[in-house]
Amino acid sequence: MQGKKLPTRVSLPRPQPCPGYPGAAIVCDTMGLFLLALLLPLAHVSALPFYNGFYYSNSPHDQNPGNGYGEGLFNRVKLVVETPEETLFSYQGANVTLPCRYHYKPALVSPRPMCIKWWKLSENGALDQDVLVAIGLRHRSFGDYRGRVSLWQDEDNEVSLEIQDLRLEDSGRYRCEVIDGLEDESSLVELELWGVVFPYQPRQGRYQLNFYEAQQACEGQAAVVASFEQLFRAWEQGLDWCNAGWLQDASVRYPVTLARQPCGGLGLAPGVRSYGPRHRRLYRYDVFCFAAALKGQVYYLQHPEKLTLEEAKEACQEDGAQIAKVGQLFAAWKFRGLDHCDAGWLADGSVRYPVVHPRPKCGPPEPGVRSFGFPDPQSRKYGVYCYRPR
Ligand SMILES: *[C@@H]1O[C@H](CO)[C@@H](O)[C@H](O)[C@H]1NC(C)=O
Repeated sequence: MQGKKLPTRVSLPRPQPCPGYPGAAIVCDTMGLFLLALLLPLAHVSALPFYNGFYYSNSPHDQNPGNGYGEGLFNRVKLVVETPEETLFSYQGANVTLPCRYHYKPALVSPRPMCIKWWKLSENGALDQDVLVAIGLRHRSFGDYRGRVSLWQDEDNEVSLEIQDLRLEDSGRYRCEVIDGLEDESSLVELELWGVVFPYQPRQGRYQLNFYEAQQACEGQAAVVASFEQLFRAWEQGLDWCNAGWLQDASVRYPVTLARQPCGGLGLAPGVRSYGPRHRRLYRYDVFCFAAALKGQVYYLQHPEKLTLEEAKEACQEDGAQIAKVGQLFAAWKFRGLDHCDAGWLADGSVRYPVVHPRPKCGPPEPGVRSFGFPDPQSRKYGVYCYRPR
């Protein structure tokens, strides 16, 4: 085969779907594969490990040892895909770019046709989520990402993903995959939103929520079910909670900073303790919710009298706002330093107040959002926290 000339551009018999995306309108170019078939004696072709329309080389003997010309298999060109190792942090509502670049070792003389796939890895055993598939200038986005994502592509082999108007659900791990018909390499980008984790119990009390109800409970508080990474970070920052709660991957855990008797015993080290994965419908626990940093404002309403829950809701509306949700109060406490010693109603009927600088007559000596649980909605002992979006 040595010395044989590579054919220049040939017309393709039929385009193949991007691997793993048989339904995608976009297809990957099989140029490389077709060249390979032309160059190999026919007898070998039938023995090639074809998969999904592509040739995958898994043995060094399949490769013609470097004869210095051509591309791909014949000189063991290696495709390298690079993403940042550090987790990226951003805000709800922001635009963020997940960087991804590729190159060849050694460098290629002429570029190969590329298929780029971005997808989000599942955190709770559901299917991975397609985000974007691109070939050349054509691209297609999927599901919740439609219209919100685009590919930053340039001559320097950048294939970064821009996501606009970040949502709480967007945090997680994304895979950037580069496929050129001969090779298929990928790398991960981890995206986190700035936010705050809080444990949540409904009015009915402790251990009342199955996984699906836990998801609804967090959504009702302007939050989502927290991921393990988010809970772990909260534990590092001092979250200590003795009731087990659901996480996004349907595992059940609780974070303990100070080992103690009623909380797993003294024998166990501090940490995020696990009950392991639990049946989503049959088991009932509390939940850990995650609320993002806010654009709007949470405030204690200056009002001459104490209010019932219904009066509290009306009072916020009269002030051009809404009664605040639990997630909004936590976010204002954490990111805006909201510090107020008066207990106030919240949308779910609980009563709380946020303290950044602990002081006498203002609850325990640690900063936190204090809770009075769910008092009688008719009682007139409390004020109200309102939320005004910007
Ligand atoms: C995000 O990008 C879009 C489109 O370029 C722009 O209209 C919007 O203002 C950006 N949002 C932020 C928060 O920068």
